[in-house]
Amino acid sequence: MTSTILGIETSCDETSAAVVVDGREVRSNLVSSQVALHAKYGGVVPEIAARAHIEQVRPIIEEALTRAGIWYPDLDAIAVTDGPGLVGSLLIGVTAAKVLSLAYELPLVPVDHIEAHATSAALLSEVPPWPAVALVVSGGHTSIYLVRDFLDIELLGQTTDDAAGEAFDKVAAILELGYPGGPVIERVARGGNPEAIRFPRTWLDKPHLNFSFSGLKTAVLYRVYGTGRKYGTVKHLSKSEIADIAAGFQAALIEPLIKKTVVAARQTGVKNVVMGGGVASNSVLRAGLQAACDEAGLTLHLTPTEYCGDNAAMIAALGHRRLRAGHTSDLRLEPRGGLIRPKRGKKRK
Ligand code: KG4
Ligand code: ZN
Repeated sequence: MTSTILGIETSCDETSAAVVVDGREVRSNLVSSQVALHAKYGGVVPEIAARAHIEQVRPIIEEALTRAGIWYPDLDAIAVTDGPGLVGSLLIGVTAAKVLSLAYELPLVPVDHIEAHATSAALLSEVPPWPAVALVVSGGHTSIYLVRDFLDIELLGQTTDDAAGEAFDKVAAILELGYPGGPVIERVARGGNPEAIRFPRTWLDKPHLNFSFSGLKTAVLYRVYGTGRKYGTVKHLSKSEIADIAAGFQAALIEPLIKKTVVAARQTGVKNVVMGGGVASNSVLRAGLQAACDEAGLTLHLTPTEYCGDNAAMIAALGHRRLRAGHTSDLRLEPRGGLIRPKRGKKRK
């Protein structure tokens, strides 16, 4: 039985809608980014994000349907991100999904944002790559999962403080490179030498699959201002010094991500590795993980970069699996807000 699913994603600062057939065939995937609205604050402002979602959600949904060449009655279900994320942002997508579900008598399928990142590689693979170890690296999360199947996902480890994307964003702010930090650090780092400055790699206790990036961020801060400089300007650094700091930071952040993902595969005995989330579009991370998987005899299934950042196609794709398993909700569905990243120190063993 084929299913045509509308996916809606509004967990953070991207309003996205997509139409996906049978969990794999992406008929449309629209992402409206709010980056310009938040750039001057150096990060996402929840109230601004929620208001922008209100303006964007309906036009984006209708554009996604139009581009897919269908209209509401042609749909089989509505899949929506119900958490985790910013509660005001989630509420807009969840409310839109509930209204459409009621008006068109369509099943409502709640989808976990992180599980969607963890399974996003399946969007393009003919045969789902499970079981797999999944590295999810985004602005709010940095975690390793064992994905036994679309509906059987176990957390193996996660960051104990900053998320990887958050560290990119904060270091870009320290270096006055703008927001979001990931893409700009990647670009600036290309002109630097990743070995010029060796920033600390934080392993925590080696058998653990947890991460910590706040020490690395502080090390960058000391490197920039440690000589008694006034905080708030990087004018004393040359372009090439900034490039070396960016490259050194990127290398120090990426190395534990790669090594621990490979360790997770060894510990669980699985042969497939996947990666999702905004940071997964980083080309140095992609190349590094590929090389490490090749060396360890693991098969890496890389999510195409267009589906790494927040997007509704991954929500509709996982929604398809959840619909088939009967994981629908009634109109009492509420967003699962809370912190977009785990609390400091929570889960530390
Ligand atoms: O998955 P995502 O779009 O949103 C969340 O769920 O958080 O991830 C956004 C994060 C931001 O922190 C951004 O700086 C980072 O992904 N990012 C990157 C790159 N592109 C986006 N980090 C490193 N390199 C990139 N090329
Ligand atoms: Zn995300």
